[in-house]
Amino acid sequence: MEQELKKIKFEAGEAIEKVEDKKSLAELKLSYLGKSGKLTAILKGMRDVPSEDRPRIGALVNEVRTFVEEAFSAKEQEFLQKELEEKLQNEKVDITLPSKGTKRGALHPVTSMTDRLVDICVNLGFSVVEGPEIESDYYNFEAVNTPKSHPARDMQDSFYFTDNVLLRTQTTAVQARAMETMKPPFKIIVPGKTYRNDSDATHSPMFNQLEGLVVDENVSMADLKNMLSIMMKRLFGEDTRVRFRPSYFPFTEPSIEVDVSCPQCHGKGCKLCKSTGYLELLGAGVVNPKVLDFNGINSKKYKGFAFGIGIDRASMLFTGNTDMRSLFKNDVRFLKQSR
Ligand code: DAH
Repeated sequence: MEQELKKIKFEAGEAIEKVEDKKSLAELKLSYLGKSGKLTAILKGMRDVPSEDRPRIGALVNEVRTFVEEAFSAKEQEFLQKELEEKLQNEKVDITLPSKGTKRGALHPVTSMTDRLVDICVNLGFSVVEGPEIESDYYNFEAVNTPKSHPARDMQDSFYFTDNVLLRTQTTAVQARAMETMKPPFKIIVPGKTYRNDSDATHSPMFNQLEGLVVDENVSMADLKNMLSIMMKRLFGEDTRVRFRPSYFPFTEPSIEVDVSCPQCHGKGCKLCKSTGYLELLGAGVVNPKVLDFNGINSKKYKGFAFGIGIDRASMLFTGNTDMRSLFKNDVRFLKQSR
């Protein structure tokens, strides 16, 4: 039996060493340690060993069994390790390969123009206020000195839901809301969407305006002109010339319209400015005292000035785009171009 055990130890050691794959290793293990394996058979034979030899043989059996078991588990470990290395090798990512490149996004031209204008105004001390896009006839027209019979209503072709509810045609609607709730002095701007039943190269049914309103004790047309000049120069460049023309709006008296020298040709004359060298950009004026009083601000004590800029128009002047509708078609080629 002793001989047999030593032989098993030797043979098992050699056989395990030679095994080349997991499957054969498992089979080999079974042939030694399985139910009818060689070592198992020996263990079963222990009961026939004379009792005086048992301690010695028992110890030897244990030694051989431990040896064989350890040899198997060492080999199993070796295979596992090998498998892992192969897997790592196969799944390796080559981080030196050039990337496919990522496409960089950009703000929509109207968004970036809004941001620029808001930045300029906030720097000049204005706070940003918002109002509803679905507005009452009262705030959109009545409260800014445009009653139902007023001919100025014809200037704006409005989308009405009911007799008294419409999509606001101008951010001027928020002027009255602000006067109702804010205590003068205040300086506010209102960027936002506005709607009119108009659609051609220079009009879109949905467009964006930025309204400005200053109410204080001693403000005048001179302050308005000065502020607008600063704003236009900051927006289009220091060499921009600003021109004021008399105009009419129900909510201001006197009213003006403001032109800037064409940012594309710098006043020389081009297609964008139709060879005039100037482009009309905004309406403005000294707040009509009627509007102040109507909305609860004493016009004897307070004066105001206001302006309304077409944001989409400003963005078109900035980029030289001649069709306002292209701003809202979401054609990626156009958007890329105006990045
Ligand atoms: N609300 C006018 C429009 O949509 C623009 C405007 C003109 C706003 C003069 C003003 C202003 O605040 O004072 O055509």
